This record gives sequence, structure tokens and C-alpha cells, in this order.
Amino acid sequence: MSNDWLELKNKVVVITGGVGGMGTKFSEEFAKQGAKIVLIDMVEEKTKARAQELAQKYGIETLAVTCNTTNEDEVDAAVKAVIDKFNRIDVLVNTAAILRFSPLEDLRLDEWQAALNVNLTGYFLTSQRFGRVMIQQKYGTMVHISTVASRYPETYSGAYSTTKAAVNMMSKQIAAEWGQYGIRSNCVLPCLVKTPLSKNFYSDAKVEKGRTRLVARRRIGTLDDIANTVLFMASDRSDYTTGDEVTVDGGLNMMISDMIPKPGGRRQYAIDHH
Ligand SMILES: NC(=O)c1ccc[n+]([C@@H]2O[C@H](COP(=O)([O-])OP(=O)(O)OC[C@H]3O[C@@H](n4cnc5c(N)ncnc54)[C@H](O)[C@@H]3O)[C@@H](O)[C@H]2O)c1
Repeated sequence: MSNDWLELKNKVVVITGGVGGMGTKFSEEFAKQGAKIVLIDMVEEKTKARAQELAQKYGIETLAVTCNTTNEDEVDAAVKAVIDKFNRIDVLVNTAAILRFSPLEDLRLDEWQAALNVNLTGYFLTSQRFGRVMIQQKYGTMVHISTVASRYPETYSGAYSTTKAAVNMMSKQIAAEWGQYGIRSNCVLPCLVKTPLSKNFYSDAKVEKGRTRLVARRRIGTLDDIANTVLFMASDRSDYTTGDEVTVDGGLNMMISDMIPKPGGRRQYAIDHH
């Protein structure tokens, strides 16, 4: 197998939420492959600094764009900046999203709308505007970061699951409408991953053990697990897969039956054996 099996070298890769926990890892891995990286995020200084750091570390071209993905004009300006610098876009990775905790009965309308705006409308706007360029090029790949919580409700998390379920459907619609233009669209569904945000949960060994035994693979996911899947789905190696949802959860969602206590006091295998 060649060292450049993914053939991502010199591809123009746009990552929204580019300096968040996942975005930072994705950009690092695409940079290692020699891709040209565009970081889109709302936090200006951090985004600029990170783009410079990647350029120096890997000797690649990078671009930092400060942009709120819910703002049509800012997304249009981001597309223009990418085209002005690179004259094309090969890969769009939609990552920018928010999660606000609230039980449904207390959820304020503005909180519901904020989640819909960033998680769904933001993903739509970037897909549509970068997608128009991809249609002209007759080539492009989209990877939308969704979550296993798009299939199962993430309780007390407001509109989060609803927005991500909608993203899954939007991705399928893109796949169906734009496949004829050489564009693919897939979702990646992570769950139980140690990220900068979630690592505090795992500082309690009991919590980590309790979570680990619910996962078929019997380990908590890493950012590498997610990034490896994202890079594969962004590459032409997955060229015949579109409109799909790739789950990266160590088999957690296969364990529902295993979690149900069995009759006669028999406990589930996972708890008995670990
Ligand atoms: N962290 C997890 O365990 C986990 C699990 C499943 C799915 N996900 C998904 O992964 C993605 C990234 O999660 P993360 O852990 O990196 O989150 P994060 O909060 O670390 O990063 C999100 C980034 O998006 C940016 N952002 C937010 N709103 C924006 C907007 N309107 N315009 C531009 N940028 C904006 C933020 O500034 C931040 O840098 C999300 O889509 C999330 O739903 C995360």
C-alpha cells in the first residue's frame, strides 16, 4: 500500500469549527497528508494562529477565515476567500455545532432556535455555497459531523438530537441531488469519544469503567478513531459511498439488548464479565 493511499495531497480541504476539539484534530491529520487547509471558525485570533502553526509545521498552504456559519454574507465571503486563494474546493468537513443542556419542558425558544441555526442551517449554508462551486467543478466531497445522538435522543440536551437527525437527512438529499455532478455527501456519527471537552468525565475512573463496559469494543473512543474515518470518507477511496451514515462508536449502539437486565436475576453479559 502506498504512503499516499488516501491521495489527499494538495486537495483543498475546508473545515468548519476548525479550531474546536474535533476540528483541531481533523486539520492536523489532513495537514499530515499534505492537503491545503482552510479553517473556518468564529474565534479570529485562535483560527489565524492555528492556520499559521499548521503551515509552518507541515510546509503546506493554509487559510484562516473568521466566519459565523449561520450568516449568509459571511459564508459567501468565506467561499470567495477560498476561491481567491486556491481557485477550488475539494472537501468540506462540517463540524461547527453547539450543544446546550436543558430538559424540553424548560427549553427556551431562543435556545431551540440557536441550536437549529448553528447545527442545521449552518451546515446547510456551507454545503449550499461551497456546493455551488463543487457543481461547477463537477467534483467535491462533503463529510458532515453528526452524532449517534441523531438516531437516539440525547436527553436533556434541547434540540441537539433533532438538529443532527435533520443533518443526516440533509446529507442524503445532497447525495441524491448532486451525485450527478460528482459530489458525495456522507455523515460521520461519533459517540463516547474523549475530547478536550469531555475528558473531565473520564477523570473519574468509575465513570470511565462504567462507560467502557457498555461499549462492544470495550474502550472509549479517541479523536484518532474519528479522524481516521473522516479522512477515509473525504478521500476518493470511499468514492462509491454516498448518502451514508458511518457510525464510530465502538459498537455502543449495538448494545441495547445487552443493557437490558435479564429474567431470573441474570445480569447482562457485559456487567457479569467486566
Ligand atoms: N465531542 C464529542 O464527544 C462529540 C460527539 C459526537 C459528535 N460531536 C460533534 O462533533 C462536532 C465538533 O464537536 P467538538 O467537540 O469539536 O466541539 P467544540 O465546541 O470543541 O468545537 C466547535 C467549534 O465550532 C465553532 N463554532 C460554533 N458555532 C459556530 C458558528 N456559528 N460558526 C462558526 N464556527 C462555530 C466553535 O467556535 C468551536 O471552535 C460537533 O458537530 C458535535 O456535534 C462531538
